[in-house]
Amino acid sequence: MSPTPGTAPLALEDASIGYERSVISRALSLEIPDGSFTAIIGPNGCGKSTLLRALARVLAPSRGRVLLDGREISSYPSKEVARRLGLLPQTSLAPDGIRVADLVGRGRAPHQGLFQQWRTSDEAAVAAALEATHLTDLSERLVDELSGGQRQRVWVAMLLAQETPIILLDEPTTFLDIAHQYELMEMFRSFHEDGKTIIAVLHDLNQAARYADHLIVLRDGAVVTTGTPGEVITAELIQNVFGLAALVLPDPVTSTPAVVPLDPRHPTTPPTQKDPR
Ligand SMILES: Nc1ncnc2c1ncn2[C@@H]1O[C@H](COP(=O)(O)OP(=O)(O)O)[C@@H](O)[C@H]1O
Ligand SMILES: [Mg+2]
Repeated sequence: MSPTPGTAPLALEDASIGYERSVISRALSLEIPDGSFTAIIGPNGCGKSTLLRALARVLAPSRGRVLLDGREISSYPSKEVARRLGLLPQTSLAPDGIRVADLVGRGRAPHQGLFQQWRTSDEAAVAAALEATHLTDLSERLVDELSGGQRQRVWVAMLLAQETPIILLDEPTTFLDIAHQYELMEMFRSFHEDGKTIIAVLHDLNQAARYADHLIVLRDGAVVTTGTPGEVITAELIQNVFGLAALVLPDPVTSTPAVVPLDPRHPTTPPTQKDPR
C-alpha cells in the first residue's frame, strides 16, 4: 500500500465533523499538499483541533470522507494509520513514573508484532529520536521531573520514533517560552526538510508565516482561504478572521509577513517610530 504519486497524503471530501450534539465543520473539503509544512490558523474555538482530529482519524466524520494516501482513512487497519501519521495532541499526560526512553519507545508500538518483540530497528529509531530532540543525556530521567520544554520534546521524540511520513501537531509551542518555541519550530523545520509532511495548528501567526509554506485559515469551522503565507496573511484577513486591526510588514529577518497590531485607540494611524534611547 504505497501512496499514489501526486495525491495529497491527507484530504477531506465534503466532510462534516464535530461532536454528538454539534457539527463544527459542515461539508468541508481540503487537501494537504504532499511534502508541505501546512499551518492551520484561526481564532479560538473555530474548529482547528477538531479538524486535526478528523485528519488523524481520532474523530470520524458524520458524512463525507477523510482520505489518507488516496484511500478512505477508515478502511485502514489502525496500526497502518499509525505507521503513516502521528499526532501530537494539544495536551498529553505521561504515565506516572515513566522514564524518557520508555515513553519515546511507546512510539514504536505500530511497528511491533503481536508479541511486542523489541528489535534493533526499534532501538535505533528511539536513539535517533532522542538525538534529534536533544534528549540523549536525559533518556534515563523521569518524565515527571522534566521542565515543560523538555517534556514537550519527549512527546515530539515519541512521535519521531513512530517514523511516520506525516506529522500532525496541535499547538505544539503554546506553553513554552519564546526560545523554547523557536527551538521546537526549528526541529519541525528539520523534520520537514527530511521529507516529512507537517500539519500544525499554530497560534502565533508570525511563526506560522516563518515556518509554513502552506496556510489553511479557518473561521467558524469553514475554510476562509488557503495559500502561501505571502498570499494569505494580509491586514484585511487579520481584520476579517480575528477582528484585529493590524499592519502586515515584512519580517525584518525572514521577509515573511509579520503581523503588528495597531493601537486600538488610534486604529487608522500607524504608530510613529519612537527612538528607543
Ligand atoms: N469533545 C468535545 N465535545 C463537544 N464539543 C467540543 C469538544 N471539543 C471541542 N468542542 C467544541 O468544538 C468547537 C471547536 O473546538 P476546537 O476544535 O477545539 O477549536 P480550536 O482548536 O480551533 O480552538 C468549540 O465550540 C468547542 O467547544
Ligand atoms: Mg485547539
